[in-house]
Amino acid sequence: MKIIMLGAPGAGKGTQAKMLAEKYSIPHISTGDIFRANIKEGTELGKKAKEYMDKGLLVPDELVVDLVIDRFKADDCRNGYILDGFPRTIPQAEALDAALAAQGEKMDYAINVEVPDENIVNRMSGRRACVGCGATYHIKYNPTKVEGICDVCGKELILRDDDKPETVLNRLKVYHDQTQPLIDYYGKAGIVKEVDGTVDMNDVFNAIVEILGE
Ligand code: AP5
Ligand code: MG
Repeated sequence: MKIIMLGAPGAGKGTQAKMLAEKYSIPHISTGDIFRANIKEGTELGKKAKEYMDKGLLVPDELVVDLVIDRFKADDCRNGYILDGFPRTIPQAEALDAALAAQGEKMDYAINVEVPDENIVNRMSGRRACVGCGATYHIKYNPTKVEGICDVCGKELILRDDDKPETVLNRLKVYHDQTQPLIDYYGKAGIVKEVDGTVDMNDVFNAIVEILGE
């Protein structure tokens, strides 16, 4: 099963993708997480990506596309995968389609997690991310057992650099301009499924499982 998670920044794509990856035993491929890991390791890719991410802008397509296409050709993706944060532009979607077509494959689902802009800034300011394993929490909606400490690996939690309100507003604008058109793009391919992302995260999860099947 090959799934794309669509939705605004902070809609809950990462939260749901992690839960789905576990349920269906397929990898969760998050371009944002890949960039953040590269930034942490101080790689050339990380240095380039950070310039864009800190401003709330998209990293140029040429730095993203090959990275993802190489990743889903890996062995662990044989039974499918969940793409989170990719594609984010029409050219990325076209490159993805072309790469899949070359393997005689196509995407199965594009799940659009819908959350209005008004809810987003609030959500992002409460998000905390683990510096060690990248697990994501929310101080109110999904708190850790011990404040400031990751439940999974015990490392410290931080507020993401791009979760400051002014950067979030920029990311939302970029989302509406460049990423939202993908809903139409995949709508034409007949694979878009909408879910309400404003309800409790377990209810969002159940709605997605209902679409994908047990
Ligand atoms: P990326 O890391 O993909 O960020 P994003 O799309 O902006 O999305 P987020 O990760 O912020 O939100 P999410 O939808 O995953 O929400 P989450 O589950 O964490 O990308 C970052 C940057 O990298 C981009 O700005 C760009 O610069 C670059 N980049 C990445 N991919 C790229 C690409 N393909 N091309 C170009 N550039 C690229 O949830 C948010 C919060 O809400 C959490 O605290 C969570 O606990 C909470 N929450 C989740 N669900 C619920 C719920 N139902 N109710 C209440 N709270 C909830
Ligand atoms: Mg995410």
